[in-house]
Amino acid sequence: MTHLLPNDFARQIAGTKATWLVTGAAGFIGSNLIEALLDLGQHVIGLDNFMTGHRRNLEEVRGKLGEDAWARFRFIEGDIRDRAACELAVDGVDIVLHQAALGSVPRSIADPLTSHDVNVTGFLNMLDAARRAGVPRFVYAASSSTYGDEPNLPKQEERIGNPLSPYAVTKLVNEIYAAVYARSYGYRAIGLRYFNVFGPRQDPNGPYAAVIPKWTAAMIADEPIVINGDGSTSRDFCFVANAVQANLRAAVAPDAALGEVFNVAVGQRTTLNELFSLLRDSLGRRQVHYGREPHHAEFRAGDVRHSEADVGKAVRMLGYAPTHAIRDGVEDALPWYLESARTIQTS
Ligand SMILES: NC(=O)c1ccc[n+]([C@@H]2O[C@H](COP(=O)([O-])OP(=O)(O)OC[C@H]3O[C@@H](n4cnc5c(N)ncnc54)[C@H](O)[C@@H]3O)[C@@H](O)[C@H]2O)c1
Repeated sequence: MTHLLPNDFARQIAGTKATWLVTGAAGFIGSNLIEALLDLGQHVIGLDNFMTGHRRNLEEVRGKLGEDAWARFRFIEGDIRDRAACELAVDGVDIVLHQAALGSVPRSIADPLTSHDVNVTGFLNMLDAARRAGVPRFVYAASSSTYGDEPNLPKQEERIGNPLSPYAVTKLVNEIYAAVYARSYGYRAIGLRYFNVFGPRQDPNGPYAAVIPKWTAAMIADEPIVINGDGSTSRDFCFVANAVQANLRAAVAPDAALGEVFNVAVGQRTTLNELFSLLRDSLGRRQVHYGREPHHAEFRAGDVRHSEADVGKAVRMLGYAPTHAIRDGVEDALPWYLESARTIQTS
């Protein structure tokens, strides 16, 4: 992974030694953060309860990096809804990268209470534990869903609309709590509003899988693909290396970045129809030929129609410099999807 970070920045991180807590460690983004951090010589604690994450993600990182790097990793199996687990996890930590949450808009519509418990109460438990332990940096996963029905593109941080789903509410509440902790306690966290992140270890299985892993797995297995709506829905798909970079940049950014939220994306929009063609063509170049045409269904409840980030604020204040446009990311991720289609049982 670190070969995916700009060299000078990777050297900067490797040149300092810190203890990092990554919550959601066994998940997609969490396990990519752990891989990058261990590869850069850092000490890392992981917290996860395997609600949507997998032990195989951690084992994959271990296999890639080897036992010497793995010796700098400590895993706590625990739930962020459990305050004691959060307190244990932040002990002695310099930087928290809080990723644990229940993702997916449809999941939150099906079960809003559990999304609330994990994403709001769990977030508050982590933020408060970090504040009371005096952890110097707290960086958390916010979401582009916070833009809700705000119609303007590209999305700029200060202009948000009404949330369109329970999930979006939970992520907005994270930001509100972060702002209130800054005002009430002077504890200033940094929020990263991820836009559709994709890449290796993003779960292709289950009803709440994200579109890129889901379609890629369907193409590999020659199964039908359904596009919600007419395919004009668009997203700013962000390869995970960019999200990892944003987290590490936020962790070492000047104090001016404290208390702020930042878009994390590329700044380019791709429609679902374009995505379908891009994935089919990329797989075709790897001798996986998908001959079916997609079916179209209704637009999905709670979905934002168009999304594209203005990443200027992160560029200016964090030094963020996205390295992968969607095409680069797909090229990078496909070998993992081809391999995982052979080794991971579909559910
Ligand atoms: N992937 C995206 O496109 C995207 C976009 C916007 C925001 N986000 C946010 O980024 C973060 C990471 O998302 P991801 O895509 O890696 O999802 P993921 O489901 O792969 O990872 C989330 C991890 O959190 C863990 N977790 C869930 N509930 C927990 C609990 N109660 N206690 C401890 N651990 C728990 C899960 O087991 C999982 O390993 C989440 O906060 C998500 O809301 C992701």
